[in-house]
Amino acid sequence: MSDVASTPDVLIVSNLVVGYGDRVVLDGVSINVPKGGSVGLVGESGSGKSTFARTILGLQKPRSGSINIASGGADHPVQMVFQDPISSLNPHRAALDIVAEPLTIRGEGTMRQRRESARELLSRVGLDPHRFADARPSTLSGGQAQRVAIARALIARPALLLCDEPVSSLDVSVQARVLNLLAELRDEIGLSMLFISHDLAVVRMIADSVAVLCEGQIVESGDTESVISAPQHEYTRQLLEAAPRLPGASRPAPTSTLIDPVNFSPPAPFAGPSPEPKDD
Ligand SMILES: Nc1ncnc2c1ncn2[C@@H]1O[C@H](COP(=O)(O)OP(=O)(O)OP(=O)(O)O)[C@@H](O)[C@H]1O
Ligand SMILES: [Mg+2]
Repeated sequence: MSDVASTPDVLIVSNLVVGYGDRVVLDGVSINVPKGGSVGLVGESGSGKSTFARTILGLQKPRSGSINIASGGADHPVQMVFQDPISSLNPHRAALDIVAEPLTIRGEGTMRQRRESARELLSRVGLDPHRFADARPSTLSGGQAQRVAIARALIARPALLLCDEPVSSLDVSVQARVLNLLAELRDEIGLSMLFISHDLAVVRMIADSVAVLCEGQIVESGDTESVISAPQHEYTRQLLEAAPRLPGASRPAPTSTLIDPVNFSPPAPFAGPSPEPKDD
């Protein structure tokens, strides 16, 4: 893994080949994520999406190909949001400590500063810290738990947020709210995102561009609206037919990037009231 800070891309993956035993699961996958951009990776179950995520995180060793991350100096340039929010959170810790944990591990700031940053992030993701700071994961709804997971991922100021099916375990109405939160964060702090989903309707809400993964190969990629309105590949057409529609799901218009996603320092980017509802 090398640093590519001089390029406008946060992530450059070239010709990635990954396998388990004799089996090749990703076969020459190339994807770039521009700084401040959001890229969708869509494919059906078993197409290799999570294998791709694990390889980016360094949990799976590629057979060949390269992964370049513009870390911007961050210790942990990639942070992950997982499919199942409740089980991704430590059941024995309170929400505030869970969110602060990445800073605690690094010994960043005083405990008081870390807790203050965690409070600001809780409120930024739409959870009133007065109500949720002491909450254990088991007492949270799926949507609330995913908001805690997003706050924890962002407190570490990652160069890239990697989301693997972050809303597929949530009810449809809650999905839309969590997706809107991610879209707001993308626009407000210029978050760079790689968003993995089997559902093109979900990807459409969040991703500027999309790559379609079929049995370990990218069969089509491009601007999300173009791919959805004029799919070139039969597999993409099948995915489109399988995509459930989200009621009222419209993608917020992107606004200008206010903050350098790599170099911004909290708490400023997260200040301000959250317009999001809290009871999901
Ligand atoms: N640890 C592993 N050992 C062996 N095979 C694996 C392992 N993990 C995944 N696979 C296989 O690799 C292929 C891709 O799996 P992966 O989990 O990456 O797919 P996915 O696109 O994330 O699917 P889903 O949408 O169901 O999460 C599947 O055939 C799976 O069975
Ligand atoms: Mg998966």
